[in-house]
Amino acid sequence: MYQVLYRKWRPRCFADVAGQEHITSTLANEIMSGKVSHAYLFTGSRGTGKTTCAKIFAKAVNCLHPVDGNPCNECEVCRGIDDGTILDVIELDAASNNGVDNIRDIIEESNFTPVNARYRVYIIDEVHMLSTGAFNALLKTLEEPPEHVKFVLATTEVHKIPSTILSRCQRFDFHRITPEAIAKRVMYVAGQENISLEEDAALLIARIADGALRDALSLLDRCSGSGETITPDVVSSAAGLAQKGYLFSLVDAVRERNVSDAFDLINTLHNNSCDMERLCTELLNHFRNLMIIKTVKNPESLIICVDDDMKQYKEQAEKFSLQSILYCLGIIESGLIALKNSINKRIETEMTVVRLCSPELSEDNSALIQRIERLEEMMKNGVKIEAAPVPKKVVQKEEKEEAPLPPPPPEAQPEEPRTAPTQSNDSSVDMPFTSWGDVIQEIQQTDRPLTGILTGSSAFIRGDHLLIKCDNPTFPQFIKTGIHAAALREAVTKVTGRKYRLGIYRSPDNSQKARDPLAELINKINN
Ligand SMILES: Nc1ncnc2c1ncn2[C@@H]1O[C@H](COP(=O)(O)OP(=O)(O)OP(=O)(O)O)[C@@H](O)[C@H]1O
Ligand SMILES: [Mg+2]
Ligand SMILES: [Zn+2]
Repeated sequence: MYQVLYRKWRPRCFADVAGQEHITSTLANEIMSGKVSHAYLFTGSRGTGKTTCAKIFAKAVNCLHPVDGNPCNECEVCRGIDDGTILDVIELDAASNNGVDNIRDIIEESNFTPVNARYRVYIIDEVHMLSTGAFNALLKTLEEPPEHVKFVLATTEVHKIPSTILSRCQRFDFHRITPEAIAKRVMYVAGQENISLEEDAALLIARIADGALRDALSLLDRCSGSGETITPDVVSSAAGLAQKGYLFSLVDAVRERNVSDAFDLINTLHNNSCDMERLCTELLNHFRNLMIIKTVKNPESLIICVDDDMKQYKEQAEKFSLQSILYCLGIIESGLIALKNSINKRIETEMTVVRLCSPELSEDNSALIQRIERLEEMMKNGVKIEAAPVPKKVVQKEEKEEAPLPPPPPEAQPEEPRTAPTQSNDSSVDMPFTSWGDVIQEIQQTDRPLTGILTGSSAFIRGDHLLIKCDNPTFPQFIKTGIHAAALREAVTKVTGRKYRLGIYRSPDNSQKARDPLAELINKINN
């Protein structure tokens, strides 16, 4: 029967546990010198060796011929514990046995001496899941267990453990395992399994696993399915990552502010079933690497990648200023946060890319600095800037004009009032539209992505126009799409019982912002 790699290759002695030497050496020493505590608490993130070390510990304290504090794995006790015929090592999953009764059973049972082994060892996994009552029931026994009882509690969430429990245990914090240590172990397992694995691919696996060896071995499992040599590309596609080349191109597109190239790339990746959240994480990591190259003398120690990639990173970093890298990191980070709750991950990703390409949409300082930098660069390249012409009067009129939507589909047209919006230039008739919330609720039924875009929006009535005020920069583009416009139109009609002409509201203030002097200057340079 096939056993998944991470279970098959669970270390059986402390020496095989990767990256936790500070724990394994202490445990082995304690066992060798016979100074074993009665209760341990193993904490740390998932897949870092907590359960593994608890199992090794349970065998080592009972082993008939321990070797330097390690179990021999050969004596009858070691074998009995391994194959489950010796019942003195008890693993309890607190996630499914979290009640007072479960703990009372343990306490009662712990009064009996072990049958075949020296110690009865209780491994309570996910211990943070115990109920308050169960924790209290455990306190007394944990403080003074019978001579022949040892406890090992394990958890990923130490902050949920009551301090009364914490103070009764010797605590060990398991670290995230370094990429080098993970890569080494993954290479070792691959070697034992006759899986052909390139070193770069092992490093990539290690990076994706983010400190967890279980994740790394699962990924190796997934990659090894085809039986072919595992290259970084195989790892990328098994993990749903964008391949490096795509990332470099995407970042180039951002650098050139080429939204349409960036969208094409996202489209290709999306069609190749690349996970959008992963893509943003990778993009974040990419900019992080650029940041490190910009700021650190020897970036090689902080960036895990092959030489070719490092060369390419360095070339790309040259083209960015540190300021703009920081700006991009900030945008991607907030994009990632929004992505977690987003209904449509692709749209959210596209919105992030639009923001990356268009710092003029943002008003914070880093965006402004970005734009000034671009200006300086253009001037350096010899572009002439002419004196600003006197603003024309016409602008005044533009200020209050609404941008009309594309015409409704032909069948809807007869119902639309065809009169010209005569009042639309008269701001005095802008009335807040109080049923906008109801409209959004309607839209939620028919067009969820649009609901997301409309978050925080409001609307005004101006004559027979309903004007929508939405700060989301993608809104105008979005609403030009037939289905979204139709959904909006339908919802408005349903709520109000009449047909309004729809438009985008620009308050006098906003249009002021739209006529940003910096934007005009840049425009001028471009022309
Ligand atoms: N430090 C490590 N050295 C070698 N292998 C490891 C290590 N940590 C985890 N593994 C591998 O991952 C598998 C799972 O590890 P383990 O069950 O010990 O993780 P854990 O820390 O208890 O995780 P969780 O918090 O999810 O329970 C092991 O079977 C082993 O293959
Ligand atoms: Mg565990
Ligand atoms: Zn043994």
